Formats: sequence, C-alpha cells, structure tokens
Amino acid sequence: MTVTPKGLAGELRTPPVAHARISGIGGYRPRRVVPNAELVDRIDSSDEWIRERSGIIERRFAGEGESVIDMSEFATTPALEMAGITADQLDAVIVATVSWPYQTPAAAPMLAERLGSKAAAFDISAACAGYCHGIALAGDMVRAGTAQHVLVVGVERLSDFTSLDDRGTAFIFADGAGAAVVSRSETPGIGPTVWGSDGAQWPAISQTESWIDVHEKNLGWPHIGMAGQTVFRWAVWGMAPVAQQALDAAGVTADQLDAFVPHQANVRIIDAMAKKLDLPADLPIARDIAYTGNTSAASVPLAMERMIRHGEIPRGGLALQIGFGAGLSFAAQVVVIP
Ligand SMILES: CC(C)(COP(=O)(O)OP(=O)(O)OC[C@H]1O[C@@H](n2cnc3c(N)ncnc32)[C@H](O)[C@@H]1OP(=O)(O)O)[C@@H](O)C(=O)NCCC(=O)NCCS
Repeated sequence: MTVTPKGLAGELRTPPVAHARISGIGGYRPRRVVPNAELVDRIDSSDEWIRERSGIIERRFAGEGESVIDMSEFATTPALEMAGITADQLDAVIVATVSWPYQTPAAAPMLAERLGSKAAAFDISAACAGYCHGIALAGDMVRAGTAQHVLVVGVERLSDFTSLDDRGTAFIFADGAGAAVVSRSETPGIGPTVWGSDGAQWPAISQTESWIDVHEKNLGWPHIGMAGQTVFRWAVWGMAPVAQQALDAAGVTADQLDAFVPHQANVRIIDAMAKKLDLPADLPIARDIAYTGNTSAASVPLAMERMIRHGEIPRGGLALQIGFGAGLSFAAQVVVIP
C-alpha cells in the first residue's frame, strides 16, 4: 500500500521574506572598577605586564544587584528605547551567555518576564562568539518572518567562574552586558554571517571539570581555564580570514567600513587582525578591552555601544563585527550601525 500526502508543500502559507537590521543597542558595565593593581599579587604579575600583554588597564566585576538578569535588563532598557519599541512588542528573547549559574531553565525566560514580555525565550552557548551567533539567528528569524523584533543579549558574570589565582585568566575575564534589538527593515541591515567551529580545540578554553566530576569527586568550585598561547595563535591566524570572508559575503570592501568591532579578547589580537585585514589607518577600531576587560558574549555589543555613545562611528554606517572563543567557535558579519 502506498500512502499519499493530503496537502501539498506548495500550499503551505509562509510569510514574505523581509530585511533585518539592528534597531537599538545598549550596554551595562558593573559599578565596581577593578584595576590591575588589585589582581597582581595573587598571580605574581604587574600592571605593566598586563597592559603590555593584553591591553587591559581595568575591568568591572559585578556585585550585589548585578546578577546576569539584572545586567541584562539594564542593557536592554536603552536598546529598546533606541529601537522605539516596548518589551511587549518583542517576539523572541535570545540570551548568549556561559556564566548563567543554572543548568536549567535558561536565563532568557526570566529576563523576558522581568521585562514584561511573554515572547519565545532561549539561551545560546557559544562563549565569546555568542552575541554574533545571536545576531545571525535573530536576523534570519526576522528575514524569514518568524519574528518582527528580537532581543539579543550578550551577558557574562565571568568573575563567578574565574580563579583569581590563575595566571592565565585572572586578569582577562570580566563582567557586563550588551543588548541589541533586531527588527524588520525596509533595507538590508545585517550581512551574511560567516561562522564555524573547530571542536578539535575544544579543551583550549573550558570549564576545568564537568559538573558530574565536581559532584562525584568532591572537587571545588570549577573555573574557566585557557591555553592562552593556543588561543592567541588561532585567533591571530584564523580569524582575520573569517572577517575577510564576512566582508566578501556582504559585498563590502575594507575602505567602505565605518568601524571594526572585533571581540575584545586581547588588544594584541585586535591589532594583529587589523594589520592582516589591511584596514585603513583611520578606521575606528574598538579597543573597549582597556577599560572593560574580556566580557565574552558581552564584548562586541559593549564595544559598539561605547563607540556610538562617544560619537566615534556614524549611525547608518557599516561595521564589521566578529566574535570568537571557546568551542572553539566563531561568527562574523557586517551590520549597519544602529
Ligand atoms: C594569556 C596571554 C596574555 C599570556 O601571554 P603570553 O605571552 O602567551 O604568555 P606566556 O604564557 O607565553 O608566558 C610568557 C611569560 O610571561 C609569564 N607570565 C604568564 N602569565 C603571566 C602573568 N599573568 N603575569 C606575569 N607574567 C606572566 C610566563 O611565566 C612567561 O615567563 P618566561 O618567559 O619567563 O617563561 C596570551 O596568551 C593571550 O592573550 N592569549 C589569548 C587569550 C585570549 O584572548 N583569550 C580569550 C579568547 S576568547
């Protein structure tokens, strides 16, 4: 017996394909400023060494009233305001984070509730590439008609998962939140995403032990460890070609850019990428890391938000953004600056 379908695929009603753009962006930096001097004794380091090797002068650590949800809310408020919408108009809330301290449920539904939204809400885990993954997803959701407005939040409280005795990470990781609203648009505002992963390098940045080992072997609180040189080489050699592919996919040349906003991992990585991409000497390049440290999923939106707020980059111009980190994972796209 053969069975035949009752309906035809051609009869399925689907929304018309639209354009998407970032319509609003916001950031939140925790109150407590932590200068290098506060960290150096425990890792036998110095302010000079940290500045020279990473470009970091100070970072922010979250305290009371600055949970993952609190920081996400504080970053979202200005993003919604810039987008000119209210939370009840959101169709989806995506939170990119690796430092939400619950296995389940996700942070996003709690954030949505806090904002007064009943939208679809879920988290994604792509570490420092999380925000750019979120923009890719949100852009595609809007283009395909699944949503009109999507909130993408990159948020981290990495101080909860960083050992202040670990010489390789104590001075790098920090806390903060960045938020973007992705909305339906008359014109294209988010270029094609170039993304991928290299799971062979899975251990290069990772939680030191699984939760099961922590429990069964009675290990102490785990932290995030990193093979610094491995990551450094991968980022310097591997990520400039990815950024170039994102430019090519968008049909944009480096001299048409108004900003380069790479993940704020290390200022030497940022400088090496800019050199390899042969970016124009006068192109504004995000160096938010000096005062914010490496905030993983929050770093790209925080860096862009600072550049807009300081009037360093023109709204409506083109920015090349790229996130990369644990996984190892990466994602890059050209976006119109909101
Ligand atoms: C972490 C990082 C700054 C370390 O710099 P590095 O130059 O690779 O450092 P190395 O581990 O090779 O060590 C070089 C020297 O500095 C010393 N050193 C290492 N950490 C130090 C610290 N925190 N303070 C002072 N000295 C330190 C080492 O002992 C070594 O000394 P030696 O030459 O006398 O043996 C660098 O590897 C890095 O930035 N990696 C990428 C990190 C990153 O971006 N991660 C985020 C990705 S999302």
